Amino acid sequence: MAVVPDVIPSLADLHARGAEQQPEYADPAEVARVVALLRRRPPLVFAGEVDALRRRIAEAAAGRAFILQAGDCAETFANVTALNIKNSLRVQLSMALVLQYAAQVPVVKLGRIAGQYAKPRSSGTETRGGVTLPSYRGDAVNSLEFDADLRRHDPLRLVEVYNASAATLNLVRAFVDGGFADLRTVHSWNSDFVRTSPIEARYESLAAEIDRALAFMITCGITDDELRTVHYYASHEALLLEYEHALTRIDSRTGTPYDTSGHMLWIGERTRQLQGAHVEFLSRLRNPIGVKIGPSVTPGDAVALAERLDPDREPGRLTMISRMGADRIRDVLPPIVRAVEATGRKVAWVCDPMHGNTFSSSSGFKTRSFDRVWAEVTGFFDVHSELGTWPGGVHIELTGNDVTECVGGLDQIDERHLGDAYETACDPRLNRSQSLELAFYLAQRLTDEAIKRDNPIQAFEPKELA
Ligand code: PEP
Ligand code: CO
Repeated sequence: MAVVPDVIPSLADLHARGAEQQPEYADPAEVARVVALLRRRPPLVFAGEVDALRRRIAEAAAGRAFILQAGDCAETFANVTALNIKNSLRVQLSMALVLQYAAQVPVVKLGRIAGQYAKPRSSGTETRGGVTLPSYRGDAVNSLEFDADLRRHDPLRLVEVYNASAATLNLVRAFVDGGFADLRTVHSWNSDFVRTSPIEARYESLAAEIDRALAFMITCGITDDELRTVHYYASHEALLLEYEHALTRIDSRTGTPYDTSGHMLWIGERTRQLQGAHVEFLSRLRNPIGVKIGPSVTPGDAVALAERLDPDREPGRLTMISRMGADRIRDVLPPIVRAVEATGRKVAWVCDPMHGNTFSSSSGFKTRSFDRVWAEVTGFFDVHSELGTWPGGVHIELTGNDVTECVGGLDQIDERHLGDAYETACDPRLNRSQSLELAFYLAQRLTDEAIKRDNPIQAFEPKELA
């Protein structure tokens, strides 16, 4: 892949659009040095993989697959450890397994991983005990620690983002290709977890069922490769223009630009201005693009975004990720879906039930309730069921670790437990149990949908299981 020439706007052009949510760096020469260094680094993903993901997302847009986009709200450098990466991959593969086996729907597995280091903030500053400092904007920009020097916006952190993302992707690829995702090992994915938990027990019995099915398939001649292979992709919010621009390359096969920092990139709720820098930049890339849409988006806004981001009406190009809040989704989403569908293009409709349902607990923790999360997903399914459109996937903030950040779920985490293991650097995440529980409910709902539509999604395909 070649370094990008003039087919995308320059960083100066993008900043001239008044780019939102960007760091304020003190030394432009240092920023220029970092960008130059990153431009020489190898791409993190290959354009051919990006194209394969676009085709998979097109399947979800067409009603033949379901997207599971999941991972941390904010990755941190300190959390780039083998254990965290393993746990995160394991919970996502477990969820995919539940969906694929119980609902027989091919799942597009997309991590919020290997690049999710920059956070948009509603306030530029944070005040504690009378001291006001710049807000934490993700490890890509500054430190979570409330310290004047560490909260300074430091461009050298972008190099660390690249290194941490490369290390993460390297281990993910090793796991995925090296047998960790092998269907014959599904039991081991929950080996470190309490089997007495109702959800782990349910998972265990599903795994046993899969074992029996596999034994049969092996006698039918399913190959080793089919059992071992899994397709897993990386995505993050493309927030920091310097980083994303520096990792954009011209694909030697097609002469077109790909942002090689991840397979799929999305535009956040706070940076989706039609004429803004983010929409302009991402509209020029060949990657599949997501855009978050919150409750203030009108049907006209949604159509305008679709026109800007998917002018060629290419299946798989655009994913619209609604994050309306459980109370709003039934009112706000239907006219948006109708308007975008009326343009004739097929976008993938994905539900983010996290970001519209955040509240502060009485003890002062930023949290989400499992019930409200599920209520938004239910609203999303109901809306699509009424319109005859396909609920193409979910977008979840989760971790494979046993945290206590969201209330509810079968383990009945209540507000008093939030302090036990509240570890997130930004938004509260579902833990492994809550994530698996969500997957079982989703599988049930997808099964009901298929029956109602009298349209089994697709015949059971063993090699698509994990
Ligand atoms: C996020 O996904 O972490 C996020 C900030 O979402 P949104 O842009 O929808 O607020
Ligand atoms: Co978040």
